[in-house]
Order: sequence, then structure tokens, then C-alpha cells
Amino acid sequence: MRALTSLTITDAVLEQMASTPDARMKEVMEAAVRHLHAFAREVNLTPAEWIKSIEFMTKVGQTCTPARQEFILLSDTLGLSALVNLMHDTTRTEEATSASLLGPFFRENTPRFEGGAQIANKADGAEVVLYGRVTNAQGAPLPNAQVTVWQTAADGRYDIQNGIEEIDCRGIFRTDADGNYLIRTVRPLGYFIPLDGPVGQMVMAQKRHGMRPAHIHFLISAPGYRELVTALYLAGDAHLEDDVVFGASADLVANVKEGDAACPIKGLPSINFDFSLARESEADKRAGRVGADPAAVTAGNGKQTTPYGAPPPEIAAATANPKKSGIFGGLFRSR
Ligand SMILES: [Fe+2]
Repeated sequence: MRALTSLTITDAVLEQMASTPDARMKEVMEAAVRHLHAFAREVNLTPAEWIKSIEFMTKVGQTCTPARQEFILLSDTLGLSALVNLMHDTTRTEEATSASLLGPFFRENTPRFEGGAQIANKADGAEVVLYGRVTNAQGAPLPNAQVTVWQTAADGRYDIQNGIEEIDCRGIFRTDADGNYLIRTVRPLGYFIPLDGPVGQMVMAQKRHGMRPAHIHFLISAPGYRELVTALYLAGDAHLEDDVVFGASADLVANVKEGDAACPIKGLPSINFDFSLARESEADKRAGRVGADPAAVTAGNGKQTTPYGAPPPEIAAATANPKKSGIFGGLFRSR
């Protein structure tokens, strides 16, 4: 029996996890343990700070509902979501429009509209037209591509922040035969990320402003092409440079023009932006999105009636012959 020290414990954990059959899970968990232990040693983490961290993560989980995803917000505010997107962009097979955050306000339940329809329930005084083309990397139009948009209403709030039943300022459109999309909406406002939960408390304790610049989210897909999750950021916003979730990027800044003669709907301010999609690789089919509908993440979260359940019947066999099961089953795939 060896004596563990603050340095040798890392190897002890790695040795015990070496039996992990899934190669990708083994790689990810080994790195997670090495970095987590190095982090604890670097900051000389105290027991009081350790339990404070557990308390914080517990609150983050407890704040999640079918209409709210506090873990995605945490990932966003720590720059992790943006980092994963930036790394994902480098694996594209072709040059294309860069990705931006899906964010915590996306939802699968989105109405479909004909081209040129208004997605805002109340459009008084702040209408704007979005138009442009969806093309492949060579500039050829992609007809019938699916263009999903969602944004704040003119009051700076997402529908989902007013309740899960509310549907406003989001819609699914299709490009026409020439790859054109055309959407009427309202001018979005920059907004505070939700500051009434544990992530907000963290952001405020760090004396960060907690603001996002005004933007419109897009999710664009066409068969055979890599799905594009991105957003357009409105030129002139005061927080383009210091977005609290690091989503704004210079190549995604769009101007709102008055009197644009090329705009198919006259008499309204407009944003013209062309999106390009890269051809889908085999790896793209497994890569997934950074972000999710909160309802989809919490859907399997059944109410536990007893504090601790019995071990699964197969546990004895699993101990003798480990196999993939439980919440990590299928999560890690070899790349
Ligand atoms: Fe957003």
C-alpha cells in the first residue's frame, strides 16, 4: 500500500481510470483529471473553497428548467462555448461564414414562415428587414436551405424569458430557388444576460457589466453541408468589443441601412448579409452544436422519489466486465 501525496494522487486516479474501454472517454477524462488536479494545486484550493465550488455548481444545476439553461450560460460567460466554436471552425473543409454562440435561448419549438413574413408579434416602430443569400463555399446559391432566426423582442427580452408558452421573434424560413432569404423582424436590443442566478452573481462579483451587444441568431442548414450556428451583431453597439459571452466577432458585424435600393421590401431599414456553408465532412456529422434547447437538456430529468436509488442489477457483472453504461454511455466517441 503506497502513501498518497498531493502529487502522486493524480497518477493514482489515472491508473484506476486506465481500464476505461472507450478511447475518447479515456482521453477526455484523463486530461480533465490532470488539469483539475493541477488547478487545485496552483490555487492551493482550501476545503472551504472546495465546498463553495460544489455549492455554486449545485445552484447552477438547480437553476436549470425547461426554459432556462444556467450551465450553458456558465460555459458562455467563461468563454468555453466560444472556444469550442473557434476550434470547431478550424476543422471546416472549406472557408465559410464563421460560427457564433447558439446561446441559452434557442428552442426547437419554432414556427415556420413564408419568405418576407414578420416574426415579431409587436413590430411597432422598430421594423427591420433581413435579406441575403445562402451559398456554398464557391458562391453557388443553396436553394431550399433552412434558415432559423431568433432574437430579442424590441424590449430586449427573449420570449422564453417571459414563459415557456410564449413564442415571439423566432421563425424558420427557407431560401428560394436562387438561395435568397427574406425576413421581417424588429431591431434587437443589446441585453443583460440573466443576472438573477448563480452565474449572474459570479459575473457581478467580478465587476463585469454582463451585457451582450445587439444581435440576431441564425441556424442555417442544407443537406450535405455543415450546419452553421452563427449570429449577426449590429454595427455601432457599445459592447461589440467586450461581449460578456465572447460571441461577437468582426466578420459577423452587420450594418442597418436606411433606403437600401437593393432591399426587396422598400421603406424599411435593412440588413443585407450573405452566408456561406462548407461541405459536410464525416466528422461534422458527429460534432453537434455548442448549445441546446433547455427543454431538450432537462427532458430526461425525471423526479427522483428516493434520495439514493439501489445499484443497477447489472453492477456485479459490470464490475467484473466493465462496459459502457450510465450517463456517459455513448457520450464520448472516438474521432
Ligand atoms: Fe442572444
